[in-house]
Amino acid sequence: MVLWVAVLALCNTAAASAVDSRRFRAWVLELGAGPGAATKELGHLATRVTSLDCDHAFAAKLGARVDGVSVTVVQGDAATLPLSDGTFSSAIAILMFHHLRSEQLQDLAFAEIWRVLRPAGVFLALEIPDGWLNRVGHIRSTFVPVTPASVFARLTPRVAQAPDFRPG
Ligand SMILES: C[S@@+](CC[C@H](N)C(=O)[O-])C[C@H]1O[C@@H](n2cnc3c(N)ncnc32)[C@H](O)[C@@H]1O
Repeated sequence: MVLWVAVLALCNTAAASAVDSRRFRAWVLELGAGPGAATKELGHLATRVTSLDCDHAFAAKLGARVDGVSVTVVQGDAATLPLSDGTFSSAIAILMFHHLRSEQLQDLAFAEIWRVLRPAGVFLALEIPDGWLNRVGHIRSTFVPVTPASVFARLTPRVAQAPDFRPG
């Protein structure tokens, strides 16, 4: 598994274009799809997309909007993925990880993503950095920032290639 983590907010179009490479495209798992801001774009880029969100309302609404063939929507928790081992060529999580309530849950999600990726699969996460502005912005929701320093140590034992951090 190759890991790319960009620690800064990037717009969803930029995120989707980051997967514009043959290596990513066969079957993409989108984690924390929410209302689906990137889903359509991913659907254009990939042969097949599975979009997952833990929120029933988001998953139901998004499921009604997609074709169900090239893009399917699943309600589920990133920390206990209801998906088979070795399925996906790539996984992308846009602004989801800081919503997991603890580093332990984030680690479970990392392990689950590793489990469902094919050998040499690629994981791309886009996150926002820690800081007062992002903390204030999440006063009414969850904010457990994923810092490059911590995630490097948490992922390096799993991955075939060292994680690559790219500020956006
Ligand atoms: C900030 S939104 C990002 C939505 C979308 N990726 C975007 O960029 O527009 C975070 C999403 O992650 C979802 N989420 C939070 N915790 C999750 C979990 N444990 N498993 C799956 N999805 C989760 C939330 O329901 C929400 O839709």
